[in-house]
Amino acid sequence: MPAPNLSVTIAGITMKNPLTVGSGTYGHHGRFSQFFPVEVMGALVPKTIRTYKWPGNPAPRLHETPAGLHTSVGIPCNTWEHFLSQDVPILKSLNVPIIQSVIGCTEDEYVDIVERCSDLGIFAGIELNLSCPNLKQGGLDFGYDPDAAYRVVKRSKERSQIPIFGKLAPDYSSLVSVAKAIESAGVDAISMINGPRAMCIDYRTRKPIIGNKIGALGGPALKSLAVYMVWEVYRAVNIPIIGMGGVADFRDVIEFIRNDF
Ligand SMILES: Cc1cc2nc3c(=O)[nH]c(=O)nc-3n(C[C@H](O)[C@H](O)[C@H](O)COP(=O)(O)O)c2cc1C
Repeated sequence: MPAPNLSVTIAGITMKNPLTVGSGTYGHHGRFSQFFPVEVMGALVPKTIRTYKWPGNPAPRLHETPAGLHTSVGIPCNTWEHFLSQDVPILKSLNVPIIQSVIGCTEDEYVDIVERCSDLGIFAGIELNLSCPNLKQGGLDFGYDPDAAYRVVKRSKERSQIPIFGKLAPDYSSLVSVAKAIESAGVDAISMINGPRAMCIDYRTRKPIIGNKIGALGGPALKSLAVYMVWEVYRAVNIPIIGMGGVADFRDVIEFIRNDF
């Protein structure tokens, strides 16, 4: 029997199947294929990058919870020049559409990295990791503020030749309004969810376990929350959604795909 055709087109990007990986969860900085070959996926979303060197958060950065992974990596990054000389040649050699995830701490930083990535001509799309505090406006994450999210998407769209994805993190009060705001700013698709904020305390020391004190939660503990949030946003917007959060096998994938009731 011939293999079924699982191809999809999302934001104009043709993928041989609807599967990709959450940014930062599948090797990065050129170290791919440690778990399975990149080419089996419909698209690859590499680790988020910035335009400048950034140390990330203090160790420890990871802690396993009973049903998940508590992390606070802090998007460490090397220089743009390092990215060009070390990562771009590897990314160019991969036979899979690449949606590069990017972040900035101001609107200008987002626009700058979007323009640079678009101009490289090697990416199929750009994903805006909106889970960054807006340093020029009170420190609320871009993705929690419909106006800030609107502006950053609108300006990114103006400067990009390729589709823009907006990645949302869970915040009950603003999730749907942010989704609608970025849709009206012209975003081509939404990726969701980024990990919700979380904290783990060592009961013996009574102190937070990871270096940054607060982090995000990923893994199976997240799945029901993620499925619910994708359902909520799916009903509110008319653009494609790439769902993630706690996916471990095909049953979880089906839960995300069947979100149309
Ligand atoms: C170690 C680690 C690093 C991550 N790095 C990023 C990142 O750089 N950019 C981003 O948008 N999300 C990042 N995430 C969030 C994931 O892409 C994903 O949205 C979240 O973990 C929920 O999915 P999961 O339950 O499958 O882990 C990271 C998650 C983990 C566990």
